Amino acid sequence: MRGNAIERHSTVDLAYGSSSLSRARDSKSKKFIRRIVIRLMHWRRHGRVVVLFFLLLGFFWLLLGRTYPYRDLDLDRPASASRERLRGTPRSAAGLPAARVNALRASYLQLLKQDNACISLAQTQQPNAQTEWQLHDLEVQNQSADLDTWNELHGDEPPVQTIWQRVDIKELKHAVANLPTNAWTRIGQERTNAVFLGRAVHMNHSKPGVESIHLIMSDNAAHNVYVFPWWWDENVSPFRKLVMRVLCEVMAPLGYGANTERHLLRVQLARMAPRSAINMHQDSGRWAEDAHRLHVPLIVPKEANGDGHYYFEVRIPNNSKSMKKGKSMVNAYLRNITVDEGLVFELNNVLAHRLSVGKDERVHLLVDFLENPLPPKHIVVLDRAQRCMYGKKDKLSFSRKQYGVDCSRNYTMVDEVKYELTTKDVTPQEVMDIIYGDEAESHMKQLIHDAPELFELSQ
Ligand SMILES: *[C@@H]1O[C@H](CO)[C@@H](O)[C@H](O)[C@H]1NC(C)=O
Ligand SMILES: *[C@@H]1O[C@H](CO)[C@@H](O)[C@H](O)[C@H]1NC(C)=O
Ligand SMILES: *[C@@H]1O[C@H](CO)[C@@H](O)[C@H](O)[C@H]1NC(C)=O
Ligand SMILES: *[C@@H]1O[C@H](CO)[C@@H](O)[C@H](O)[C@H]1NC(C)=O
Ligand SMILES: *[C@@H]1O[C@H](CO)[C@@H](O)[C@H](O)[C@H]1NC(C)=O
Repeated sequence: MRGNAIERHSTVDLAYGSSSLSRARDSKSKKFIRRIVIRLMHWRRHGRVVVLFFLLLGFFWLLLGRTYPYRDLDLDRPASASRERLRGTPRSAAGLPAARVNALRASYLQLLKQDNACISLAQTQQPNAQTEWQLHDLEVQNQSADLDTWNELHGDEPPVQTIWQRVDIKELKHAVANLPTNAWTRIGQERTNAVFLGRAVHMNHSKPGVESIHLIMSDNAAHNVYVFPWWWDENVSPFRKLVMRVLCEVMAPLGYGANTERHLLRVQLARMAPRSAINMHQDSGRWAEDAHRLHVPLIVPKEANGDGHYYFEVRIPNNSKSMKKGKSMVNAYLRNITVDEGLVFELNNVLAHRLSVGKDERVHLLVDFLENPLPPKHIVVLDRAQRCMYGKKDKLSFSRKQYGVDCSRNYTMVDEVKYELTTKDVTPQEVMDIIYGDEAESHMKQLIHDAPELFELSQ
């Protein structure tokens, strides 16, 4: 009998894998667990499917949550109500208070109504009604993005460069030429203008030595338009008046009249420092497809007219019947376009193009404009020293937008470096060098202080 009892005990112990002492204590919970395991094993098929579904849902939620941190600023929701945060980075300074966001927008919309450069111009001088140029047909232009498609659909040359007219740029050029050199740097911009973070390493790669001052920018999807302080605030920059004086004149034949400013999707001053280059690239994304790209050359190297190092080459499809299909690179040729100070032209920027300058700098005013005026709802007015993130959304994203702008928070240097490190193969030191140039060292100290974990990881 004793032997039987021992045998029974050891059988039970084996089954439960525990001593008889703890068995006495745990037997209740063990029974419970066993009941659940048995339930699960006998669960009907659809029960398992439900469990599997929730597991998968959780998996994707984690995956997307980690890699889909950016969104466009939703204007219908006050910024302060935002619960969004960049996952994986500490939450930093909150965005602007909703009252400030709304006040900025209201005063800009007021400015559009009252201080309208194009109305006053129309009152003082007759716009030049004689137009010999025609706007590029955007649908046709878009087809030239792909050389094979173009060569199959069309026999002739796509629109490349359309010269509009010569315009008086004296004042604008003077203002640009007199900017202090550091006005073009991050440090020069971040105090009085707003800045978009998250693009520095990419820009250094594709356009080394190119600096820009943003006046109006859009997101990649041309959904929202961001109006920068250097545009709306006369106290920090004269550019809105000077630029609009030029644009009202050259765009007058389009008939946009008092609405001209509301057609602007992007307005930026782009400087190529001496001996810099823009590598061969095609502009893509809705902002490039939906808008006309206007160049107003302001400072053009003397050698542009000779044969120095300056060039501005566009790759043009060559529909040669003697060539085999699919040989796009062969079925195209390069051509230098005409560039002269004050000579305004429309460029087909979906064609591949590249630029280079020699010993002299080059500055152009770049304007992208839409055929329809922007609804005020999509105008976001940025505050002085506001720092937004222009971020790449993950490829898993089911959004049609590849990139988003998030201005709902005031992003920090740490956020920016972390973002660059997750999207590009660079070290914190390289990122700081690209962003801050000569002043990288002091910012590096700050970064080490604010985010020591970055340096532990990168060892
Ligand atoms: C431009 O062409 C691309 C394909 O090359 C297409 O996906 C896109 O929808 C087109 N955009 C417009 C505005 O027609
Ligand atoms: C930035 O651009 C310069 C010039 O092309 C290049 O030498 C440097 O390696 C780039 N930095 C990074 C981190 O890509
Ligand atoms: C463009 O101009 C540059 C400088 O004058 C020259 O070296 C280059 O060959 C030109 N390109 C073409 C395609 O003619
Ligand atoms: C276009 O291609 C044909 C055939 O290769 C060539 O003969 C012609 O010179 C090319 N046109 C230009 C402008 O390069
Ligand atoms: C955003 O943060 C920076 C410091 O990172 C600060 O200098 C700036 O004033 C802030 N801007 C706004 C609009 O709060």
